Amino acid sequence: MSRYEFKFGQYTTNVNFYSLEDIIPGNGSLFVADENTSYLIPKELMDKTIILKSGEENKTWESIEAILNKAIELELGRDGLFVGVGGGVICDMTAFAASLFMRGCSVTLVPTTLLAMCDAALGGKTGIDFKNYKNLVGAFYPATELRIGVDTLKTLGKREFLSGMGEVFKTAMIGDKSLLTYLKNKKDSILALDKESLEYMINSCIKVKGEIVEADLYERGIRAHLNLGHTFGHALETVTGFKDFSHGEGVVWGIAKSIETSLLLNIIDEDYAKKVIDLLKEYKYRLKADVDAVEILSAMKHDKKKKGGVIRFILQTAPQETIIREVPEDIILKVVRT
Ligand SMILES: NC(=O)c1ccc[n+]([C@@H]2O[C@H](COP(=O)([O-])OP(=O)(O)OC[C@H]3O[C@@H](n4cnc5c(N)ncnc54)[C@H](O)[C@@H]3O)[C@@H](O)[C@H]2O)c1
Repeated sequence: MSRYEFKFGQYTTNVNFYSLEDIIPGNGSLFVADENTSYLIPKELMDKTIILKSGEENKTWESIEAILNKAIELELGRDGLFVGVGGGVICDMTAFAASLFMRGCSVTLVPTTLLAMCDAALGGKTGIDFKNYKNLVGAFYPATELRIGVDTLKTLGKREFLSGMGEVFKTAMIGDKSLLTYLKNKKDSILALDKESLEYMINSCIKVKGEIVEADLYERGIRAHLNLGHTFGHALETVTGFKDFSHGEGVVWGIAKSIETSLLLNIIDEDYAKKVIDLLKEYKYRLKADVDAVEILSAMKHDKKKKGGVIRFILQTAPQETIIREVPEDIILKVVRT
């Protein structure tokens, strides 16, 4: 049964939940996995499978070429169905390759990280990193179906899982305050990977993200709210050389810093601010980073220069009340230093 059917412009994306046995669609014509997710592909489909090296460093044009070569080797036509089985990297690349093959064939995604289930696989952004720029080359190409199997998360490392939780907190804050309460009350069962709790949590995130993307496909307005915590977070990842903090850990730090910014600007409900910070502490995230505030600010400026604009921050005034605004530099420096 379809849990959701989203309309993203001319595209329709169905989202369904599956058990591990049924997670891989038998009608796929080409399967893309990486070293850590290929175990999910049944043996009889291995001839149709390309296994890529895992990790962001392989989110490259060479990987796209390898997928396209496999499609040619399998003599696929425009009616081919590409199936991506993996985290955000595999999902982004499989959908991008599908958008290119014969000017666009169908794509189904089987996200296997929490981040990909809650965020990356839904909404049509696809692509690769290029010349050291993240996601510089890509296309807008939503999957026809997302097949979610929470049991795939059992093999995911704990750090990767908690990294994905960063996007879950963000989603709850911008779009579902009852999910925030759920995250507090069900912390132990979520961390124990209880199936029912995970399905509830992921389902809630998909609903929020799907509705935001439906309302603002090309990020002209509220889709930007999904970047809550990311301006601070990306700068932290950059300054710490992409080693010390994972993407999700950076986002969580960024969420905390955006809350502190709102507190300094005196625009946020103080009880709400405390509730979020306490919750992040309960999940044992690092909310302090030993970094140079000036370096963080210049990383933000550099990032913005690339995108051609001034730095605008996604901030909150209350749960589900999100705004976008510029912030004076002295406030940013002060917040990073605390
Ligand atoms: N398209 C979008 O809207 C969007 C949104 C957010 C992020 N992204 C992209 O997503 C990517 C990050 O995604 P990610 O965090 O999933 O990283 P990832 O795809 O690199 O996966 C992280 C690691 O977990 C491994 N893995 C995946 N599933 C596993 C499983 N079930 N068991 C064991 N190991 C498993 C992978 O092999 C990899 O080593 C970035 O490239 C980012 O740009 C895209």
